[in-house]
Amino acid sequence: MGTEVRLGSLSEFRDGGLTGVETGGHRLIVGRKGDEVHVARNRCPHLGFSLTRGPGGLRYEDGVVQCPWHNSRFDVGTGENLDWVSGFAGRTVPRWSRSLIALGRKPHGLDTLSATVRDGTVYVIVE
Ligand code: FES
Repeated sequence: MGTEVRLGSLSEFRDGGLTGVETGGHRLIVGRKGDEVHVARNRCPHLGFSLTRGPGGLRYEDGVVQCPWHNSRFDVGTGENLDWVSGFAGRTVPRWSRSLIALGRKPHGLDTLSATVRDGTVYVIVE
């Protein structure tokens, strides 16, 4: 069982964009497409870094976020890992070097949270 938390009004989240928010000590990302939102922890499963701040900058398109550190890509809706540690700061590195950058960490998805929009307000369930 989790606790439902109000994240804000839907209009505070740019349509087609990804927004980093903090609530009650939880760092989250909110992806919005129209009236639909997806929420996940703002923590890359590779090394635990922010998905919204880093040397590669915020990269988000069509529901997919790319980690600003080592380019892993994730579907924010499902949490699925789409690409694992392919470079640094948005630049691709040779395939042979990727396992070195991965530091032995195996591909893993995002921690997603259940989110709803009611009466123009975004809510999420946090543990
Ligand atoms: S910290 Fe995100 S891919 Fe390395």
